[in-house]
Amino acid sequence: MVSSSAAQEFADANLRAKMASLGMAIHYTRAEGNTLYYRDSENREVAVTDFVGSFGSLMFGHNHPEIVARAKEILDNQTPIFTLMLGHSYANEVATALNAIVRRELGTDEPYYGFFANSGAEGVEVVIKHAEFDRQARAAELIAEVEANLEAARTAVADGAVIADDAFDSLGLAAAEGIDGLVAEVARANAEVAALPPVFLALERAFHGKLVASVNLTYNPDLRLPFTRLGPRARFVPSDAPDRLREVVAEERRQVFDVQVADGVVSVVRRDFPVFAGFFVEPIRGEAGIKPVNAEYAREIERVCAELDCPIVLDEIQSGMGRTGTFFASTHIGLRGDYYVLAKSLGGGIAKTSAVLVRERRYRKDFELLHSSTFAKDSFSSLIALKVLELLEAEDGEAYRKAAERGERLTEMLTGLWKEYPDVIKEVRGRGLMLGVEFQDQLDASSPAIRGIAEEGFLGFGIASYLLREHKIRTFPTASATTTLRLEPSIHLTDAEIEKLDTALRDLCALVHAQDDRWLAQA
Ligand code: F0G
Repeated sequence: MVSSSAAQEFADANLRAKMASLGMAIHYTRAEGNTLYYRDSENREVAVTDFVGSFGSLMFGHNHPEIVARAKEILDNQTPIFTLMLGHSYANEVATALNAIVRRELGTDEPYYGFFANSGAEGVEVVIKHAEFDRQARAAELIAEVEANLEAARTAVADGAVIADDAFDSLGLAAAEGIDGLVAEVARANAEVAALPPVFLALERAFHGKLVASVNLTYNPDLRLPFTRLGPRARFVPSDAPDRLREVVAEERRQVFDVQVADGVVSVVRRDFPVFAGFFVEPIRGEAGIKPVNAEYAREIERVCAELDCPIVLDEIQSGMGRTGTFFASTHIGLRGDYYVLAKSLGGGIAKTSAVLVRERRYRKDFELLHSSTFAKDSFSSLIALKVLELLEAEDGEAYRKAAERGERLTEMLTGLWKEYPDVIKEVRGRGLMLGVEFQDQLDASSPAIRGIAEEGFLGFGIASYLLREHKIRTFPTASATTTLRLEPSIHLTDAEIEKLDTALRDLCALVHAQDDRWLAQA
């Protein structure tokens, strides 16, 4: 028998110690809706209002009764769960439901094909692989076209066509090299470009996951830099400076040579080579501090990607699934993706799954034979995902309206506080139920204790810890912008829960405003 030792911990000891030092290591024993429960030292159940919904994965809250009932039914029916290569999975039904939603929301008839994975980051990895597979296919098509054109030029020269002088100049060749030299040099130079690794574009402060490829598209240097040698190369661009995007594109853009024959003259031309495999965008950057991409920049992304034939990948893992009042957050800025990635709430708070949607124009069917996982597309996750989509779409989209309405109510409360305490709250932003409250950094605070925690970079954690300890409210700072608290509760958020947060934040604001640091002393 394996005996457990109370003294020694073999999992998460380091992480737990850090959470404990922040006053946030709690063993919750039960959860429902927006409430988590723990037992205090006298074994009494204590309720905590959960405003982070485990970072946006609980659109319908903890243990939603209809989702739990469906889960029990799936198990009671002895449904085959792991279906790898069984010839049937429920993934098709999920993809069909997603297509219906895409058609309604984007007003397009173009189908989107689905791939499934087990987590958000894994879904991102699937996109990275598919996008590179597609890029290589596009590159091969281009190189094959150039080869055909070279053969046509060779035939034309044999039939008496001449080679333009500047054709040799552009290749750095002497005219004496003739058509054979020209063909060889074009092929050599093009092979060099074709061998280059792909470039992925992503936004500064983006978060796309922590697996070996996805972590390389995640901006946070602490998370990314130890692993850059393992993964794809990303160029990060700010989301508010179109000129910088243009500069980066110009730096990375590569061209190959091609030839054309017109009026008996062979000339050399340049063509763009597909070095850009994808532009990854979170329509609202979560980890960055709840930062929405604006419609103007969305147009710039579209223009640049159309010019480069670069796929747009919308990472809706956190922002999607109705949280902002529409199924995709990108719908608000009219940005359409060649790819969409969904995870978090897709699993209804009890399953772990992610879905990748690829528009038909980009979809490579052979990829289905290249990528699989024992667990992906399992019946449990797929049937739960179907249930979640059904709940979202029920009553003509009542859930979306609720997300928007609850979000507005919450925003109204937060904005009121911001107006009242501009010296404490710097900004309230986001959309629907994906909101961020950014606090003033307090680096110039007159209270040494408040200034101290601010300088250590722990102000947000200090605030979250205070709200938990004194007001039984769970919030959490965004990882790459720690003075911003994220609020991502479920759509069942009540007025009473909003009032509870209002009271708690009001208390905090009054204390910080007065530079009273007693709220920190107890941390
Ligand atoms: N993309 C986005 C936009 C995310 O917010 C996350 C996770 C991921 C990808 C990775 O998904 O955790 O299932 O592998 N965000 C969490 C957060 C960690 O803090 O919001 P995962």
